[in-house]
Amino acid sequence: MGDNPYQDDRGNKDRSITKTHGVGQTPLRKGGKAVPVEGDAPFLIGEAMTGGYGKGPDILHECTIAVNAGEIAVIVGPNGAGKSTAMKAVFGMLDVRKGRVLLDGEDITALSPQDRVQKGMGFVPQTNNIFTSMTVEENLEMGAFIRRDDIRSTMEQVYELFPILRDKRRQAAGELSGGQRQQVAVGRALMTKPKVLMLDEPTAGVSPIVMDELFDRIIEVSRTGLPILMVEQNARQALAIADKGYVLVQGANAYTGTGKELLADPDVRKSFLGG
Ligand SMILES: Nc1ncnc2c1ncn2[C@@H]1O[C@H](COP(=O)(O)OP(=O)(O)O)[C@@H](O)[C@H]1O
Ligand SMILES: [Mg+2]
Repeated sequence: MGDNPYQDDRGNKDRSITKTHGVGQTPLRKGGKAVPVEGDAPFLIGEAMTGGYGKGPDILHECTIAVNAGEIAVIVGPNGAGKSTAMKAVFGMLDVRKGRVLLDGEDITALSPQDRVQKGMGFVPQTNNIFTSMTVEENLEMGAFIRRDDIRSTMEQVYELFPILRDKRRQAAGELSGGQRQQVAVGRALMTKPKVLMLDEPTAGVSPIVMDELFDRIIEVSRTGLPILMVEQNARQALAIADKGYVLVQGANAYTGTGKELLADPDVRKSFLGG
């Protein structure tokens, strides 16, 4: 927060635009500034987000996803439910027509994705999340592009978390296995030293053993105090490690609770967890 050189410029020619946001039909344009918020919100929340792609129909309908400090929050739901869209909305990759995104005491709804990275968001998208023709180490260096300080200790931490990446650091990332590529993607996001980590299906397409390993690493990252908001296909396993869970259906919140509550809910079990 305090490191934003533009912060004193907040006093703010675009107030009128900010105000219509949340009630109007005009998508909020990116390129604005962060605004402090009152009260205690979760560390990161996409709140009552409504919106879709370009001029297309709304995909999200008052959709809320959030993560508290020190916690893991998991988003599950059927294919096409809007899980990735909700993550992209939180990251600023699509314009929400209603709702807002708050991060660490600030309304960041108007910020571009790049500015959200500066504010401390680390995002690993579901697809195209590594540079396949670059080496593992170059991928990690790319991850640190916003930093001016020495990145070596962070790289060392990533290699300690994912030792296989150290062994393969000179190899093209595209030559790695699915699970290893996902490690590169997560490592790349960690290189910015984010304040919150957003993962969209980090275990997609990997074997059950590799999935367990990745979950263990994710828990390890979370224990360092980094809040994690993640989408998962492996709903049962993911909810088992989740402090908070969200079931999305057709772009809206269907069920919300602790991971335990959702795992125990008969409706959730029947409809989303295979009984
Ligand atoms: N780039 C895009 N442009 C237009 N529509 C999209 C785009 N990406 C996803 N969608 C649509 O948004 C809906 C939700 O997709 P998505 O968020 O990817 O679901 P999930 O991640 O839950 O599988 C789907 O109907 C999908 O076709
Ligand atoms: Mg998805």
